[in-house]
Amino acid sequence: MMATGTHKSTSKDTLRQVLARLEREGAGLGHFNVADHVLLKAVVAAAADTKLPVLIGASEGEREFFGVRQLTALVKSEREESDLPIFLNADHTHSLAKAIEAAKAGFDAVTIDFSGLPFEENVARTKETVQAIKAINPAILAEGEIGDIGTGSEIKETAQGGQLSTPEEARQFVEATGIDNLAPAVGNMHGMLKSMVQGKAKKHLDLERIAQIKQAAGVFLTLHGGSGTDDEHFRKAIAAGINIIHINTELRVAWRESLDKSLARDSNEVVPYKILRPVVDSVKQVVRARLRLFQSVSSDAVGTVA
Ligand code: G3H
Ligand code: ZN
Repeated sequence: MMATGTHKSTSKDTLRQVLARLEREGAGLGHFNVADHVLLKAVVAAAADTKLPVLIGASEGEREFFGVRQLTALVKSEREESDLPIFLNADHTHSLAKAIEAAKAGFDAVTIDFSGLPFEENVARTKETVQAIKAINPAILAEGEIGDIGTGSEIKETAQGGQLSTPEEARQFVEATGIDNLAPAVGNMHGMLKSMVQGKAKKHLDLERIAQIKQAAGVFLTLHGGSGTDDEHFRKAIAAGINIIHINTELRVAWRESLDKSLARDSNEVVPYKILRPVVDSVKQVVRARLRLFQSVSSDAVGTVA
């Protein structure tokens, strides 16, 4: 394993170009969810520190809280000012209307999520959404999801998730929908168990299945539910064909813990930026560590998707 150390992307590069380059280098792109300006500042600061590309994500709930157009405007201004390849994804989008709203606002990518429906319905709704968002912006990256990896980037009592995705359904789904990248179920799970937050347990992935799905699907692959995953499994998953890795709960845990600490430090402190500055810094450290890890090239890297 080694660090690639090549930071050639700029704000002018498209998401597709960045993904293709990272894949050639055997690296992955970090996707980090934001629900407020503190989280956004932290992710941007980590990208600036590392000079690495980053994909900012916001689910329907996060978008509703932030404001779809407001988040788009902030990310655009961060990208222009920093000249960094900072992209924006409409994460876990469960309706055609919300996907269209994000595409019209200027999002670079949409995670179309009808994975809770039966396979045939998932195919039909995903295909319809891919066509609609590409009519608005042909360069937009359309992601589709198959399988069950549980819902919610939260701390959980018990593990969630159902049957793992198969290479055959991955192939069929990609062919039938026209998606650019696929998010399969490969041992990943949304959220973290308490033992994971305490660092006593880690998520492990089905690495062989990832390689088989990559081969069958022939598109970029996204790993959801990244929080709490074993570092070595991350590296091997990228080598097996994962291109984008979603992390959310780890950021939320850092946000909550450092906010608690900051508030407890002085009960008379009422200046928001004094209370929130250490929170930005704590979340930034989590993002920075993950960004660096996803650049650590494993020796068993696989072929590329153009
Ligand atoms: O789409 C968001 C992610 O899949 C986050 O999952 O909270 O387990 O990191 P996570
Ligand atoms: Zn997810």
